[in-house]
Amino acid sequence: MPPIVNRYTQLAGIEHPIVQEGLGPFRTPKLAAAVSNAGGLGTVSMPGMPEDIAAGARTFREHIEECAGMTERPFAVNIPVGLDSNGDVLPFTDIYIRTALEARAADPELARRLRVLTTSAGFPGDYIARIKDAGMVHQHKVGSTRQAVKAAEAGVDVVIAAGFEMGGHAPSKAVHSFVLVPSVTEAVDVPVLLTGGARDGRGLAAALSLGAEGVAMGTRFITSTANSDWHPAYLQALLDAEEGDDVAFDGVYGPCRGLRNAASRRLIEETRQDDVDPVEMTRRKIESMQRAQTEGDTENSLVMTGQVASAIKELVDVAEFVPRMAAEAAGILRSLAASLPSAVGAL
Ligand SMILES: Cc1cc2nc3c(=O)[nH]c(=O)nc-3n(C[C@H](O)[C@H](O)[C@H](O)COP(=O)(O)O)c2cc1C
Repeated sequence: MPPIVNRYTQLAGIEHPIVQEGLGPFRTPKLAAAVSNAGGLGTVSMPGMPEDIAAGARTFREHIEECAGMTERPFAVNIPVGLDSNGDVLPFTDIYIRTALEARAADPELARRLRVLTTSAGFPGDYIARIKDAGMVHQHKVGSTRQAVKAAEAGVDVVIAAGFEMGGHAPSKAVHSFVLVPSVTEAVDVPVLLTGGARDGRGLAAALSLGAEGVAMGTRFITSTANSDWHPAYLQALLDAEEGDDVAFDGVYGPCRGLRNAASRRLIEETRQDDVDPVEMTRRKIESMQRAQTEGDTENSLVMTGQVASAIKELVDVAEFVPRMAAEAAGILRSLAASLPSAVGAL
């Protein structure tokens, strides 16, 4: 029997309530398969927004199939909902959601594994019914209690509450996990995951105490040995990061958290200028992020990470880490319960 069983593990069909969350625009099929094989839920990330969006969709489908070829267990895809200045959904979101649904429709074995779809950034609106009709579990990531209530009322199955300290595409409201998660768990009845700042069993135990039913992590899983898609210099920069080395800059769908370096300083400077073309700027940012992953120039490329990098000092082996993290959380909760005076003793 796994150490923690709850509504979320049952819904997602996983052993441990530990999720590797979407890490676009990076390549994550191997990492996703490693996390799912370890009993958590791995996520295949969206592969960016290339000019040739059909080529992007083909890459996404390849990543999904690659992951399905490496695990027998459930895994997820993450597709951010990008909106233009009129509030209309950007074409890449629509194409990527269709790609995931078509990959499932074409292959029942893949459909059995690709069980969860996580949307993030903008509100998923009409996609909620389409994802549900396809028989998938729909998770949506939010940065405020108001967004959580709206998503739950609209029918999503799981809400991921994203705190200020999270890496990558950070919420614009900037509410810290410790404030946001209990407000969200109070406000909605569906299972809630904490994302932002978790790194071990203590974080999972804390999330469960706040009423969440699991954690979704980014930075902790990037800094692992299962993940040969990241340049070693990127991993080293995260291991070397200290408190205060992170900064939020204008990202792709809103603010984005990464390392304070020459690239993020330059970007912050350029963002202040009036004559920047937003589409061109977004493309350059994504290319810079991808260059950091593949080439490892951690000074002149945007290195996305959460604040928790400052507390991570070594790479972990995912296969060993995921069950250990769940066992550590269960052990903490058990020993805390044992330290309470019994009802009789307290009288
Ligand atoms: C390198 C990187 C890329 C990310 N890309 C995405 C993304 O494409 N979509 C998304 O919803 N969240 C993205 N995030 C946020 C993560 O899914 C997750 O919510 C976050 O990393 C949690 O905070 P943590 O890093 O403290 O664990 C990204 C985070 C990082 C560090």
